[in-house]
Amino acid sequence: MPSLSFSKIFFALSVVSVMVISNAELVDDVCRKLGHEQFCLEVLKSDSRSKFAKDITTLTKIAVDVAAKNSTATRDYFLSVKTGPPAVLTSLKDCIKSYNVVIVEFSNCFKEEDCSLIGYDIHDAGDEVRRCQAITDSNGAHDSFITTSNNVTLEFSGLGESLANLMCDKTGA
Ligand SMILES: *[C@@H]1O[C@H](CO)[C@@H](O)[C@H](O)[C@H]1NC(C)=O
Ligand SMILES: *[C@@H]1O[C@H](CO)[C@@H](O)[C@H](O)[C@H]1NC(C)=O
Repeated sequence: MPSLSFSKIFFALSVVSVMVISNAELVDDVCRKLGHEQFCLEVLKSDSRSKFAKDITTLTKIAVDVAAKNSTATRDYFLSVKTGPPAVLTSLKDCIKSYNVVIVEFSNCFKEEDCSLIGYDIHDAGDEVRRCQAITDSNGAHDSFITTSNNVTLEFSGLGESLANLMCDKTGA
């Protein structure tokens, strides 16, 4: 009997390790298919839930969730900045409005019933960031932290849109 339960435990552990290995491969496989491989790996591997993800839908949800949290942290940082060059402070007022929309798009896109609208919402988030960047550039604040933040958020939007497109192709197949 003890040897039987030992082999049961051993069997259970092997199943778990096989699952973990194949799920790690899922992240690598999915990221390899996208034009954002490095950023994709960085984002998905930063969240421990990716290890247990069994499908592209779960990975897309994780990426969008990380994007929503990152954009919220960026918006909150923008809100905290009270001193600096006038061009930066003026730009921040508009950019905070843009980021409020970005956060809503990332947070709510999975509520869409039509799969194709998820990527559309994520694309809209990118458009809002481009709006903030255009205003920042026209105010002469291009060389500020706003551009650095926008570049990151645009990477999140590009990654999310690619993942959503892959996910919707799969679902529709
Ligand atoms: C957003 O994510 C990027 C990339 O992982 C990271 O470098 C940056 O510090 C994050 N920003 C905030 C405000 O958390
Ligand atoms: C932001 O991205 C643009 C376009 O990819 C690049 O030319 C620029 O150097 C980046 N700037 C910063 C501050 O990251």
